[in-house]
Amino acid sequence: MSTNRTFTMIKPDAVENGHIGAILEKIASAGFKIVAMKYTQLSLRDAQEFYAIHKERPFFGELVEFMTRGPIVSAILEKENAVEDFRALIGATNPAEAAEGTIRKLFATNIAENAVHGSDSDENAAIEGAFHFSGREIY
Ligand code: TYD
Repeated sequence: MSTNRTFTMIKPDAVENGHIGAILEKIASAGFKIVAMKYTQLSLRDAQEFYAIHKERPFFGELVEFMTRGPIVSAILEKENAVEDFRALIGATNPAEAAEGTIRKLFATNIAENAVHGSDSDENAAIEGAFHFSGREIY
């Protein structure tokens, strides 16, 4: 079943580089409505749990270190076909391979520090949104 919500984070590199406003503008211009949002910093345990699927990958330690080194913006976004359309808006994991005009092409640093997260399935969007927000924080 397809839902109309996805989960995103503006990652520490994009926050450090002053891109929060420009990224939110791209998200709003693409027709996504923000239904939950916070400015926060992940603990080591949060990041390890959020990215648990990657724990055997060689980049896991670096990923957790990066995702905890500074604040992030996390949000739940609503739009028809949200997961797929948001993945298209952010572009490929590696910004060198991302299409022109995508958020990662415009704002990512490299494959490890790639500016934004976007859920890869409706099921993960629901899990990730619930990991970051309580029911009372979602509008
Ligand atoms: P992945 O889920 O494959 O990508 P995406 O974020 O596009 O869904 O990987 C999760 C994150 O792990 C990715 O955004 C950045 C990091 N990562 C690396 O640091 N090195 C890598 O080689 C890969 C594949 C990912």
